[in-house]
Amino acid sequence: MTGRPAARIVLDGAYRVAPVPRRLFGSFVEHMGRCVYGGIYEPEHPTADDDGFRGDVVDLARELGVSVVRYPGGNFVSGYDWRDGIGPRAERPTRLDRAWKTIESNQVGTDDFLRWAGAAGVEPMLAVNLGTAGVQEACDLLEYCNRPAGTEWADLRVKNGSPDPYGVRLWCLGNEMDGRWQIGHKTAAEYGRIAAETARAMRRVDRNVELVAAGSSKPTMPTFGSWESVVLEHTYDLVDHVSLHAYYEELDGDRTSFLASAVQMDAMIRAVVATTDSVGARLRSRKRLTLSFDEWNVWYEQHFPGEDALDYVPHRPLIEDDYSAVDAVVVADLLMTLLGHADRVTIACQAQLVNVIAPIRTEPGGPAWRQATFHPFALIARHARGEVLLPAVTSSGHRTEKYGDVATVSVAATHDEGTGETVVFLVNRSPDRATSVEVALRDLSAKRIVEHVVLAAEEPDAVNSAAAPDRVLPRRGQDLHLDDGVIRGELPPCSWSMVRTS
Ligand code: AHR
Repeated sequence: MTGRPAARIVLDGAYRVAPVPRRLFGSFVEHMGRCVYGGIYEPEHPTADDDGFRGDVVDLARELGVSVVRYPGGNFVSGYDWRDGIGPRAERPTRLDRAWKTIESNQVGTDDFLRWAGAAGVEPMLAVNLGTAGVQEACDLLEYCNRPAGTEWADLRVKNGSPDPYGVRLWCLGNEMDGRWQIGHKTAAEYGRIAAETARAMRRVDRNVELVAAGSSKPTMPTFGSWESVVLEHTYDLVDHVSLHAYYEELDGDRTSFLASAVQMDAMIRAVVATTDSVGARLRSRKRLTLSFDEWNVWYEQHFPGEDALDYVPHRPLIEDDYSAVDAVVVADLLMTLLGHADRVTIACQAQLVNVIAPIRTEPGGPAWRQATFHPFALIARHARGEVLLPAVTSSGHRTEKYGDVATVSVAATHDEGTGETVVFLVNRSPDRATSVEVALRDLSAKRIVEHVVLAAEEPDAVNSAAAPDRVLPRRGQDLHLDDGVIRGELPPCSWSMVRTS
C-alpha cells in the first residue's frame, strides 16, 4: 500500500467505552410463523428432547453465542393470555392469535420456554401483555415464575413440575404500544400510566426485577421521540431500560444506502439517549437509564403482505427471509454499532432466532442450517471480550441517497486484559470499491495477527440453504498485515473483516 490510506483509525488501550455487555448478543423467540412451532419446538424431529425441543437448534443457538432470549413477543404478547400455555399440554386451549392470524395450539408456554432457555444456556427476558391485559396478569405471571411456593400461582408452578422459582430478572412492559397494528395500542399517556402501575406492582412481587419500558416502535414513527419523553415522565424512576426497535432492508436497488444502515441505527441510539437523559434532567434524577435494543435486524418487510392479508391457519411460515453476504455485512455493522454504544446500550436482541428473519433455518423433520448472517454474529459474540475501545476514525466518505455522506469504513474494537487479545472489526460500506485502511494499536501490546477472517459479497445474491448450507461463509483474510503495532491493508468492497491480535 502506498500513499495515505482512505481510513485511518487509532485505538488506544486507555480509551474505552465500557465493558462488553454480554446481553448485547441477545435474540428473540416469538410465537410467530415457524419460530416456535417447527423452529425451536418439533416433537417429531429426530433430535427432539423429551420436551419436544429440537437438539440441533439448541446446538446452533449455543454456537451462535446467544446470551439472552426475549419471549413470547413481539406483537403476539399483546393479545396473549399466559395462563393458556401452562399445565398438561393436552388440556391447553387452542386460540386465535390475532396478532399474526394464526391458530395457536399453546403447546409451548412459559414453563416450556424457560426449560428450553435452561437447555440453551441463555438468560430469559419475558414480556408481559399490556395490550389486552394489565397489572394483575403481569403480577400473576411474575408470582408464577419467581415466588417460592406458598401462594396460588407459585404453587401452580410447583404442581406443573418446577419446584424452584425461575428467578427471571428481565421483563418487558408490553411491546410497541404506539403501533396501530398492536392489539390494545395506546397513546403515550395511556401506556405511560399502565406501564408505571405495572412496574410499581411488579416490584412489590419481586424487587429484583429489571424492567424495560416500551419505546417507540421504529424511528420512522411520528411518535418517535415524543413517545419516549411522555412515557418516561411516568416511568423514569420505576424502570431500568427503555426499548428501541429497528429493521433495515434494501429498497429500490439502493444498495449504497442499505450498506450504510448502521448510520441510522447510530443516530437513533443517540436520539433515544438524549431524550431519556433530558427527562432525567427535568426530573432532577441522578438515575441513568440504559437502552434495550430488543428488536433489530435486516428484514425485507416489502415482501410481507401485512397481517390483514392473512387467513387463520396453524403455524404457517412467515417472513422467512433468505440472507446474502450483503445482508450479513449490514448485520455485522449493526452489531458493531451496538458494541460502540456499550456504555448506554446494555441489552440487544436480534429478531428473531429461528426461521422468522433468523440466522438459523430449519426444515420440518430435516436439517437446521446457518444463514449468512449467522457467521458475523457468532464471531463477534465469541471474540468481543473485555472492554470496548473508543476508536478515533478518519475515513473518507461516500454519498448515499438516504443518509447523505457517510464514512466508508466503520470499526468496532475490544481489548481483553486477561488474554491480551485486541480484536478489530471493520466494515467497508462501499458496494463496489475496495478501500485501504490503517489501524494503529497503541498501548495494546499487539505483536501478531492470531486470526483474520473476511466475509465479502463476492456473489451478492448467493444464500445458504438446506441443500447448500455453506455457500456463504467467512474466509481466511490475507490482505491485512500487522507491523510495529499498525494493521495495514485493503478491505474488499461490501465486506466485513475481523482481525484478532495478541
Ligand atoms: O419481529 C417481528 C415483529 O416486528 C414483532 O412481533 C414486532 O414487535 C415488530 O413489529
